[in-house]
Amino acid sequence: MPSWRERWVALRNRWLCDPRFHKRALDCPLTRPIALARVAALFDLTAGFVYSQVLDATIRLGILEILRAGPIRRDRLAEEIGATSEALDALLKAAEALELVESLPGERVALGPQGSALLGNPGLSELVLHHSHLYADLAQSEALFRGRPQNGRLAAYWPYAGASSAGVASTAAVTPYSTLMGASLPALAEDILDAVPLRGRRRLMDVGGGLGVFLSAAASRWPHLALRLFDLPAVVEAAQRRLVCEGLSERIECVAGDFLETPLPAGADVISLVRILHDHDDTGVRRILSSARKALPSSGQLIIAEPLSGTGGRDRVAGAYFSVYLLAMGRGQPRTSARLKALLGEAGFSNVRQVATRNPTLMRVLLARP
Ligand SMILES: C[S@@+](CC[C@H](N)C(=O)[O-])C[C@H]1O[C@@H](n2cnc3c(N)ncnc32)[C@H](O)[C@@H]1O
Repeated sequence: MPSWRERWVALRNRWLCDPRFHKRALDCPLTRPIALARVAALFDLTAGFVYSQVLDATIRLGILEILRAGPIRRDRLAEEIGATSEALDALLKAAEALELVESLPGERVALGPQGSALLGNPGLSELVLHHSHLYADLAQSEALFRGRPQNGRLAAYWPYAGASSAGVASTAAVTPYSTLMGASLPALAEDILDAVPLRGRRRLMDVGGGLGVFLSAAASRWPHLALRLFDLPAVVEAAQRRLVCEGLSERIECVAGDFLETPLPAGADVISLVRILHDHDDTGVRRILSSARKALPSSGQLIIAEPLSGTGGRDRVAGAYFSVYLLAMGRGQPRTSARLKALLGEAGFSNVRQVATRNPTLMRVLLARP
């Protein structure tokens, strides 16, 4: 016997599959606004790949950066980026529809609200540009979604997610992803530190700490705190160079290792895992959590900070974007808070709680006691 929900889904789908239903819904004044919104949403879904490529082009051709300095005449802009006026007109028309740019009188063009917001969001342009790897993988979507990707570009971008041993990655192999992560972290790091006061703590170890951007933020926020970064040897090498330039090499200790193979060093009373667990399958997560629990004293604290998936099926960021991204990358999955709580429980953590963050779409924080 089908449930009420199943019966409703079957009935709704029968209506929506019927072109006569659409015509009637558009003709009836009561349902017309809903029908029009649904038509627009369906068109957006169909055209989304064009929108993302327009965004990519405005960044790649340097248009948004040129407009950062202020409005410019269209012919000057065409000259600066080496485009024909017809091609630039088409791109600007598309970019204006997406609110990336805005036309002004006198054949001039300025940044639009979305273009300005993008520039005000450090790291976002780099994120958009690196999507060319995912875009190339999506061009082979049948192989990707049959689970048989060939020479995946995104998998090559994230060498530790591949089958080979993570520790052997060279500095050249880890620099692109480490730089990308570092560029997008400062604002998120502030959000995490606002959500988790570390006043009573002695030493923070950031596991998978990349170039040390989270620890740099913690260093200026909490002068009393000892800091330790743990990451793969090639990343630690790059982090050490960055910390020397920042004048933080004395303050932040760096430890190289592989958290899937060897125990984490003891001595920290707080461990942070920032954008780490979603990169790993459950076996990897169990290893990392168990190692973190063994490294912490009983009074210690674990901080998990990453985007989580919601419970509904309409969660575009985690449900659509991250699950496809991680599939193409070759490992990992976005998890719900409930799933992480269960994995934390299995690893022996207790008192697990989620704390409020400024931008929950991009970052949620769970705290746990060993
Ligand atoms: C997605 S990045 C996050 C970096 C940083 N926490 C951030 O949010 O910007 C994942 C980090 O985990 C590190 N990592 C991956 N596998 C590792 C392993 N087996 N052992 C140690 N570190 C690893 C990577 O080198 C990378 O720095």
